[in-house]
Amino acid sequence: MGEKAYQAVKVEKEDGITWVILNRPEKRNAMNPTLNREMVEILGELAVDDETAVLVLTGAGEAFSAGMDLKEFFRDVDHDPAARFRARQDAHRWQVHLLRHFPKPTIAMVNGWCFGGAFTPLVSCDFAIAAEDATFGLSEVNWGIIPGGYVTKDLTLVMSFRDVMYYVVTGKTFDGRKAAELKVVNEAVPRQELRARVVALANDLKKLNPFTVRACKEAVRATWTMSLEEAFEYLSAKQDQLRFVDPERGREKALHQFLDEKSFRSGLEPYRRSE
Ligand code: COA
Repeated sequence: MGEKAYQAVKVEKEDGITWVILNRPEKRNAMNPTLNREMVEILGELAVDDETAVLVLTGAGEAFSAGMDLKEFFRDVDHDPAARFRARQDAHRWQVHLLRHFPKPTIAMVNGWCFGGAFTPLVSCDFAIAAEDATFGLSEVNWGIIPGGYVTKDLTLVMSFRDVMYYVVTGKTFDGRKAAELKVVNEAVPRQELRARVVALANDLKKLNPFTVRACKEAVRATWTMSLEEAFEYLSAKQDQLRFVDPERGREKALHQFLDEKSFRSGLEPYRRSE
């Protein structure tokens, strides 16, 4: 699918890393219905694409994304319920369902402006690394709405109550360094190091057993909002399921290398997958 041309998104593949680039730089990558429709298709295809081991979501030009498109996603469909339904459905489908349940690790590379609706795909990615000088903001209050869709709820999952309240109600912006402090992103790095840092993380992820990585990320997401008892039951079942579906038989291999061969220390490194 690498060759396929899209209007609002670019897909580039290199060494197992697939770069999905929101590509409306002249509109600061605001997410319009075309972009949302294309993202549904792209994520559906990449989920089962053998060349994609890690997915990176980023934006072209100076923005990660300026949020939902104020014209095409909001005003243009205000009086067209069918178009509004379709627009919302596509947006939520890729930003939440497809991205959150993507079977391989996902990294948001926040290269610049990140506003409003852009927080949903950001939180939906498993990891996020920002440029120190990227600008984040919950700007909805500035134009007379609340952060809707999943945004307010998503923020409460990653940030503290006080911080969510402050930034949602005031609309004040914060930079990449602050985003790392608030835990909206894992870390912030100087702009010139951003891509290399993302590639380094992706390469670390590529070395691990993909079945285990998938089960780990699913376990973190699924138990996020579960009760203690539900989480215990879920994790017990998930653990057994992983042993059943892992063609590498990673657990057995690792136990053999640690207990019999004494050839690796599982606390410090992954088991050798090549054997
Ligand atoms: N929806 C639709 N169009 C948008 C947009 C959005 N969310 N964000 C930017 N654009 C468009 C602008 O209308 C402008 O289009 P034009 O060239 O046809 O006039 C173009 O992108 C460039 O925007 P501009 O404001 O000139 O760029 P800037 O670099 O000076 O500022 C931002 C960048 C992101 C600070 C500013 O565009 C902005 O505040 N955008 C809205 C952010 C927002 O409130 N998002 C929440 C949506 S839920």
